[in-house]
Amino acid sequence: PGADHAAAPLLGFEAIPVDFEYRVQVPRGYRAQAFLPWGTPICGHFPAYRDGGGNSGADQECQVGYNHDGMHYFPLDGASSESHHGVLCINHEYIQPSDLHPNGPTVEDGVRTVADEVRKEIAAHGVSVVEIRRNPGSRSWEVVRGTLNRRITASTPMEIAGPARGSALLRTRFSPEGTRTRGTVNNCANGYTPWGTYLTCEENFHGYFLNTGEQPREHARYGVAAEKTRYGWESVRDIDEFARFDATPRGEEATADYRNEPNTFGWVVEIDPMDPEGIPVKRTALGRFRHEGAWMAPPVTGRPLTVYMGDDARFEYIYKFVTREPYNPRTASGALLDEGTLYVARFHDDGTGEWVALDFEDPRFRAAAREAGVTFADQADVLVNTRTAADVVGATKMDRPEWGTVNPQTGEVYMTLTNNSEREPDQTNAANPRGPNAYGQIIRWREAEGEHHATRFEWDLFVVAGPPDNSRIFNGQPLDASNVFNSPDGLWFDPNGVLWIQTDGDQSEPFGNNQMLAADPRTGEIRRFFTGARDCEVTGVDMTPDGRTMFVNVQHPGGSWPDGGDSRPRPATVIVTRDDGGLIGL
Ligand code: FEO
Ligand code: CA
Ligand code: CA
Ligand code: CA
Repeated sequence: PGADHAAAPLLGFEAIPVDFEYRVQVPRGYRAQAFLPWGTPICGHFPAYRDGGGNSGADQECQVGYNHDGMHYFPLDGASSESHHGVLCINHEYIQPSDLHPNGPTVEDGVRTVADEVRKEIAAHGVSVVEIRRNPGSRSWEVVRGTLNRRITASTPMEIAGPARGSALLRTRFSPEGTRTRGTVNNCANGYTPWGTYLTCEENFHGYFLNTGEQPREHARYGVAAEKTRYGWESVRDIDEFARFDATPRGEEATADYRNEPNTFGWVVEIDPMDPEGIPVKRTALGRFRHEGAWMAPPVTGRPLTVYMGDDARFEYIYKFVTREPYNPRTASGALLDEGTLYVARFHDDGTGEWVALDFEDPRFRAAAREAGVTFADQADVLVNTRTAADVVGATKMDRPEWGTVNPQTGEVYMTLTNNSEREPDQTNAANPRGPNAYGQIIRWREAEGEHHATRFEWDLFVVAGPPDNSRIFNGQPLDASNVFNSPDGLWFDPNGVLWIQTDGDQSEPFGNNQMLAADPRTGEIRRFFTGARDCEVTGVDMTPDGRTMFVNVQHPGGSWPDGGDSRPRPATVIVTRDDGGLIGL
């Protein structure tokens, strides 16, 4: 699409400068308030947050988790427009152990010796489900201590659904039938469905698991640890729930140990925020990889649903899942996500592209696997080994796919490719044009005939990010002081058609602290709207349906943000409002 210079300006705020301080900045006429910081009591015995790592594991199970990431606001009171009362679902991607414990983590000879520290770390992962309400006559919000509030953690029991349910590759001592598992980890970005559920996505799950033996492809191709896990939870050997993170085979039978435990991670997990007793479900038809997030195209009655996804690692792929059954708003449920086709993207240098099915029943897929000398036993095997399946069909190796979003006005799909320090100059292609790629780009595509389930598309680069002398917006402009950024990560179209870009990258000059910018997809105009506290990444965004309250997450902030003084820093949500009560960004 060409720049539409006739369009009325979309953005209605003054760009803010870059920042280097331990604070959050928003444009003149706006206010930012920290909300729901790590440790906020939300359920159970509502334990107050204690600075200095003073809360126990049992406390953390009743408090907001650490490192906020993807997030979604679900309106309450039966009105989809309810903008003063809702349920916020927040992902908690990972933890900084030194912030969680007074002097911890405690480790002796490579062994975690304080089991409650591990319990607390497991509880600081996962998802917070929190009922919130705007205080009447005010722009501040409060936690409602209601029955919906819930913590889902790295130990919450979960169902496994879809083609891999019951597969021999998912059988463990905990679930000899291969139908259940415990917990979700590294919940990065998210998604939501038209039937009112939340999707949380398991990204860097591999580092939580150990296999010191010979690794099968479903471990090795994902990077399961061979020597040392990220947090050492598996070293607490006398507690099964912790020891299961050791996936080293112990004997003959897979159901006697946890060799298959890592195969029960790396999925998209569905949560019903309105059912506090509901068991989260891992939807295996959407594939297993380092899932950044899962973004459903706007549903059309009578058409299949399409979910866009990325695998955030260097040289990994962009995927989409298309349901077998058409969408019917009266009957739609999570079961729709259990049957359908998983595709991976090929981006051709001429600006066209195609989606290639990873389908055991498809003769073309079988032929490609045969040619590559790779065998799959069934579709469950294809899904557990999604990366290998994508390898055999020659998908395009991308620069770390992060968030995707669909333009509500045009149906164009946008996705961030955050950076790729390892791409060599001779490995570039039109979609990934720089090697090494320190600064990232945003790609976008238009599905054939405007149908999200199409298998052909056309693509271009919306913006190649970086300093002014190494960046280009599709309208031909370089980035400048009002919008310079690198390493785009979070990405979201609001209902007004503003594209919000969040960053997780280099904080040196000229970029400053990680930030959020607003873009007009028609003209390519980009303006800086928000800067986060130094050392943080800005990730996760949503608005109330009236467009007047915005929620933005600040992950791993430095200094003592937001409490100040000598406090430890706390990841938190930030509520952004306008002084005049107007629409955010416009
Ligand atoms: Fe958790 Fe790819 O960011
Ligand atoms: Ca992160
Ligand atoms: Ca991310
Ligand atoms: Ca990132």
